[in-house]
Amino acid sequence: MNSDEMKVLAGRTAADALVKSGMKLGLGTGSTAVHVINRVGELLAMGALKDIAVFPTSFQSLMDCEKWKIPVFTLNAPELSGGLDLTIDGADEVDGENRCVKGGGGALLVEKIAAYASSSYALVADERKFVRSLGVSFPVPVEVVPEARLSAARSLAALGGEAVLRAALRKAGPVITEHGNLILDVRFKEGADPVFFEEEINRIPGVVENGFFTKIRPVLYAARRDGTIETRK
Ligand code: A5P
Repeated sequence: MNSDEMKVLAGRTAADALVKSGMKLGLGTGSTAVHVINRVGELLAMGALKDIAVFPTSFQSLMDCEKWKIPVFTLNAPELSGGLDLTIDGADEVDGENRCVKGGGGALLVEKIAAYASSSYALVADERKFVRSLGVSFPVPVEVVPEARLSAARSLAALGGEAVLRAALRKAGPVITEHGNLILDVRFKEGADPVFFEEEINRIPGVVENGFFTKIRPVLYAARRDGTIETRK
């Protein structure tokens, strides 16, 4: 299978296995999570799924939900009241304990709010995302308020992380997040402890959130090149 086929397989398999009628559901962002949204949309359209209330984690996932007329709510709406039964999202890297790095698409802040507000959490990925040590080959996104661009980068360097300001692609200057902040992409050294760094990075003044997700243990649906799915808890 090529990587697009693996993303479809992981997304659809997780949606079929986990999403049930009546759920309060967080739906993630990215090129794998979109296949969860597409499958949820199909199941709703077929009548196989009913009465779900969805919290999309970004403009991208909101727009994908809108295409399917999936009922979306803010997390604070009475239909959700700040809590979710299940969130399914993609990941940039996953280690052997299903801890992950997220935020390649810049949506880490709301993705983490959804993940940590969910009773259960699932990741959809393909085997290319497996790593031994998080944050080494794929940098960890750190969302910072604009005023902290340099001071936070200095504090991250003191922790051993090398920060690069994320540049926009079709706009001059940096990426501005959906919350008006900047993103520092930070590379760590092999063996850096993601549990320690998830806590420690957020202590830096001006840091809003970081892309280490270590406090929830997701079930992982990882597609393999041979067309099989590895489900790992
Ligand atoms: C979005 O901010 C990210 O956390 C995505 O979930 C992550 O980057 C995975 O995206 P892909 O499935 O597109 O690789």
